[in-house]
Amino acid sequence: MNILVTGGAGYIGSHTVVELLEIGHNAIIMDNLINSSAKVIDRIEAITGKRPTFYKCDMLDKAAMNALFDKESIECVIHFAGLKAVGESVREPYKYYYNNLSGSLDLIDVMNAHNVKNLIFSSSATVYGIPKTVPITENFPKGECTNPYGWTKSMLEQIFTDVQKADPKWNVVLLRYFNPIGAHQSGLIGETPNGIPNNLMPYITQVAIGKLKELGIFGNDYNTHDGTGVRDYIHVVDLAKAHVKALKKITDNSGLSVYNLGTGIGYSVLDVVKSFEKANGIKIPYSIRPRRAGDIDSYYASADKAYKELGWKAELGIEDMCKDSWNFQKKNPNGYDDK
Ligand code: NAD
Ligand code: UFG
Repeated sequence: MNILVTGGAGYIGSHTVVELLEIGHNAIIMDNLINSSAKVIDRIEAITGKRPTFYKCDMLDKAAMNALFDKESIECVIHFAGLKAVGESVREPYKYYYNNLSGSLDLIDVMNAHNVKNLIFSSSATVYGIPKTVPITENFPKGECTNPYGWTKSMLEQIFTDVQKADPKWNVVLLRYFNPIGAHQSGLIGETPNGIPNNLMPYITQVAIGKLKELGIFGNDYNTHDGTGVRDYIHVVDLAKAHVKALKKITDNSGLSVYNLGTGIGYSVLDVVKSFEKANGIKIPYSIRPRRAGDIDSYYASADKAYKELGWKAELGIEDMCKDSWNFQKKNPNGYDDK
């Protein structure tokens, strides 16, 4: 299949392109590189032996998107492009609503104009807000998001749902990711956050490499087995493979589908620190800090629906995630600026 991957130079997009190419699909990357590097294209080629077509194109540039769709015979779009920094979205809400919503609305318009009506969308578990219980299943109600980034995901889910409802020729798959970590086993592609990382795993790997002194653990008085926050960490390669499986819903003409993508297992911050230390033989110094605003006790998926309907389940465990995150950090101490 000819698949357009928006945001395909980014963390999850690049891993998905690798899986698509390896299974014989043709992947065309569209990315404005605002949060990624063109070097990723070389790295994807080094892993797969195939060079994906790359368009440096902003989804806010509708004319450029139209030209891309005129040139390529796109059959399906996997839509990763978007801004994703939670804290920044609180400080600069307009930037987030404009980029994520306007860009996606233009994408829908361009897709309609080219009669391309197959879409897989990167949503987030954040759309559930604060769940009443765990594990979270897809029929839990959507909740109040705690930040503008989360609202863009929730609103885009609604927009794509309404577009599909109005025109049943659309096939839309909404994928709600839990906490992606890890990197490709080659160590050639991975996550490269700008500045001081906000998320747990990149913070840990930067402590391990000596860029940061110690990990601050945000609270040890949560209602969890050891008092630290529990999340559902999923290896990015497993996550990427789920996108390939989700193509089944496109070829089956399934209309609208929604899936959680997680492992179904919750690990606390201290569990992750211990797993990292065990997998890599490196001590991670930490201290307990106050809670971070907006964080909740425990958040993990039921991933049964994806298994039943897509035949997908996560294969890699927490130690693989820790090993591969460290392997990428070690090989690329300064992200893609190293080589
Ligand atoms: P990422 O920042 O690495 O990738 C996003 C890509 O989109 C980047 O390469 C960026 O340059 C590109 N982009 C942004 N705005 C664009 C625009 N206007 N036009 C063209 N390209 C643009 O992020 P990621 O972690 O790979 O996330 C991919 C998607 O998954 C995002 O939509 C994100 O919100 C969603 N998601 C991520 C997580 C996570 O924890 N990483 C969790 C849930 C959902
Ligand atoms: N944490 C620390 N110290 C740190 C960073 C994080 O203790 O330096 C803790 C947090 O308090 C939380 C856990 O580690 O308990 C995970 O935090 P992350 O920031 O890695 O991830 P979140 O679960 O907060 O958020 C992630 C994505 C969001 C997404 C959300 C729900 O970053 O984009 O999952 O899917 F919305």
